[in-house]
Amino acid sequence: MLQLREADGPATVIHRADYAAPAYWIDTVNLTFDLDPAKTRVLNKMTLRRNVEVALQPLKLIGEELNLARVLVNGQGASFKMEGKQLVLDNLPVEGSFELEIFTTCAPIKNTSLTGLYVSNDSFFTQCEAEGFRRITYFLDRPDVMASYTVTLRADQQKYPVLLSNGNLVDAGLLTGTGNEGRHFATWVDPHKKPSYLFALVAGQLVCREQRITSRAGKEHLLQVYVRPGDMDKTEHAMNSLMASVVWDEARFGLPLDLERFMIVATSDFNMGAMENKGLNIFNTKYVLANQATATDADYANIESVVGHEYFHNWTGNRITCRDWFQLSLKEGLTVFRDQEFSMDLCADASARAVKRIEDVRVLRTAQFPEDAGPMAHPVRPDSYIEINNFYTVTIYEKGAEVVRMMQTLVGRAGFAKGMTLYFARHDGQAVTCDDFAQAIADANPDSELARLLPQFKRWYSQAGTPRLAADGHYDATAQTYTLNFSQSCAATPGQSAKEPFVIPVSLGLVGISGAALPLQLQGSADPVGNSHLFVMTQPSESITFINVDEEPVPSILRSFTAPVLLDFDYSDAQLLTLLAADLDPFNRWEAGQRLALRSAINSIATAADATGATGLNDAYIEAMRRVLRHPTLDAAFKELVLTLPSETYIAEQLDVVDPQRIHAVREAMRAQLATALAPDWQWAFEAHSDNGAYRPDALSAGRRALAGMALAQLCLAARDDADSVWPGKTYQRFKDAGNMTDCANALQALISSGHALATPALARFHSQFKKEELVIDKWFALQAGACDRGGQVLPAVRQLMAHSDFNIRNPNRARSVIFSYCNANPGAFHRTDGAGYLFWSEQVMALNSINPQVAARLARALDRWKKLAEPYRSAAREAIARIADKTDLSNDVREVISRALAD
Ligand code: BES
Ligand code: ZN
Repeated sequence: MLQLREADGPATVIHRADYAAPAYWIDTVNLTFDLDPAKTRVLNKMTLRRNVEVALQPLKLIGEELNLARVLVNGQGASFKMEGKQLVLDNLPVEGSFELEIFTTCAPIKNTSLTGLYVSNDSFFTQCEAEGFRRITYFLDRPDVMASYTVTLRADQQKYPVLLSNGNLVDAGLLTGTGNEGRHFATWVDPHKKPSYLFALVAGQLVCREQRITSRAGKEHLLQVYVRPGDMDKTEHAMNSLMASVVWDEARFGLPLDLERFMIVATSDFNMGAMENKGLNIFNTKYVLANQATATDADYANIESVVGHEYFHNWTGNRITCRDWFQLSLKEGLTVFRDQEFSMDLCADASARAVKRIEDVRVLRTAQFPEDAGPMAHPVRPDSYIEINNFYTVTIYEKGAEVVRMMQTLVGRAGFAKGMTLYFARHDGQAVTCDDFAQAIADANPDSELARLLPQFKRWYSQAGTPRLAADGHYDATAQTYTLNFSQSCAATPGQSAKEPFVIPVSLGLVGISGAALPLQLQGSADPVGNSHLFVMTQPSESITFINVDEEPVPSILRSFTAPVLLDFDYSDAQLLTLLAADLDPFNRWEAGQRLALRSAINSIATAADATGATGLNDAYIEAMRRVLRHPTLDAAFKELVLTLPSETYIAEQLDVVDPQRIHAVREAMRAQLATALAPDWQWAFEAHSDNGAYRPDALSAGRRALAGMALAQLCLAARDDADSVWPGKTYQRFKDAGNMTDCANALQALISSGHALATPALARFHSQFKKEELVIDKWFALQAGACDRGGQVLPAVRQLMAHSDFNIRNPNRARSVIFSYCNANPGAFHRTDGAGYLFWSEQVMALNSINPQVAARLARALDRWKKLAEPYRSAAREAIARIADKTDLSNDVREVISRALAD
């Protein structure tokens, strides 16, 4: 059992099974803010009524970090009591509705947690999801209480010329009367009911890019992107992304924009990426601002998908919201699925779609699979939590999106769109559950596999852990049959020792030795089914047999990664080379290359006597990589993915005992081997892809830049071995001449990752060139904290970076660019045999704990997988975790993560 201590008693565990409807409904909320950094006054006038379906009980409103000044019921002073954070009111009117007025103050300038109301760059922002509204006023701060909001903002006009809240601006002007000199106001009315977590306000000196659009139905809308003055030249891409999002949701799902005005506001102090507040999305600047001089292709792509994601929440999250926070994946998993589909649909061709799919699966496998195998493992719909903010996880998001994708696979694309339509017809305006969603998709497709298997399918929501799908194949040359035997299992996870079988959709096909796709005909069926078949596995073990197979085939299993499982199939190298060269499914082509590289890595890790990984990559693999690199028709982005070795984190996940230094050494040796063996090919690749004309961030030209960047890094690495300075020199030149940030950052990265001396002047030049661009300075920090460790130099460099005058631990982007880049994204430098990386980590978790518990708790997860570590890492890691656990004033956020890490 978890033992949790906190200053005011043990933290409470919230259970999904304890859900109870609220005892009161809040119908309207009228908020008036007198904005002042040191003392903001909040007048909250609500109308409430009893929920007659629940036993009569006192009203309990929650508040945090508030100074309570007044409580009136129907205009009269009312008696109340405080129970911890709760304001408890008894003897309220039983019939009809009543008015409740609450007056509080708070201190936004002191709010370093960046939840509730806070100040950033002299402007006011709010962040209310999941439970931040309670830091603004006493409220029923839960998503199933949906109210109509009217909000008046009052502030100094010169300091805060722009006053924004959700919905429509209905009134604005100067305030009059003594004490109001120089002050103005704005009143906003949100036409849609919403839960408190979707409330937002913004006040400050901002400018905006505007765009008027007309919807398919002929309605006019105003789109706005608000940024600090000086950032206007970085707003075009976000606006384009927003317009594309509006068009896509209407075209693909028939979902129109339901507001006259839709606003995006950027802030540089933000815990997360972005937030979908109704009509007033608030974004981390990282996911809004871009021009070619400051943003990379990856930044452009992220902006497109994050803008899409938050916009798509307007229907999946806002119009239909979550009944309780256990249902978080209802909106997040579904909306990630939607933003992934959006990005794919914007791709010009099938190859670019496949590239996006591979990238998404890579995230799932390097981040979610480890989570599912570690101490924080939880189902897509968790059963309990202590701090909800700890459950905005890759499981809720990425695995949740895969669960939705499996539904689409089972009912088809058109069937899924029908299901969405039924979901909105049934539940628009409601706060619902994951069950409601799955039921709607199934009900709209009564003849589908999903409808037939729904209760079993829903185990994806209730069971944690990544299922393992083991397969073997048997060819009968006489009978001309090929049989695939499958079996599934799922390891125990915290609190779940035994698992029931899952519904696993497996897209598969057979490839002939020449590389041709073989026609598929199932035993017992009269007709061939084409070149790909969807096998829906439901039992612990099952077999399928194909007939009329006239040669021994290579099976291509789990094409496009149709289910979030680990696939075990004992492929020979020759079979993998066949798939890599010729499978019709690009995902499995890439996967075959990854399997080959992984096999070499694991062999080297297990067998090489020295730490250099001497066994390395075999000739067949290198030849195959050469063929991919030189391939006349494959596109550059796909080549770059195939030629990228599996990450150190992914390799570590495949091992029972992890020696991070050894993994790092082996992977670096493999990288160097590819660099040397393919040197002429890299040179060709660089020359053939380095000139892209005018900058455009589309997938095709981004792919060319990615491949050119990779070639450059490889050429610098090869030069390191033979002490040649030609390519490092050319790289430095390209760094200086680059016409866009992608080429510039790639060249800089090539110098850094090869450890070349020119990295030093390049970094200095980069800093002075971009010192006024905070998002670029974040890159400058991250490149150094993420540098390839050669002899332990990275940790001292990181400590120095933290002493740099541009470093500020209170700014999450900056903290991430240094601390997270080192602890989470640089395993070869973080896992030191002397344990100094872990000591650093524990210091930073504790420092952040008192500043920003959410950011601290994310960092606290860096050692989730410590139990897999070999000695001496394991003991040192345990010690560092215990050091944090010993601290008395830990936030619930950090305490929950650390306790789980230490639990047996
Ligand atoms: N609703 C979330 C923002 C959020 C996350 C609020 C955690 C409170 C706590 C938003 O829709 C979201 O999911 N943002 C992601 C980016 C998205 C593209 C996956 C984020 O901020 O990381
Ligand atoms: Zn989201």
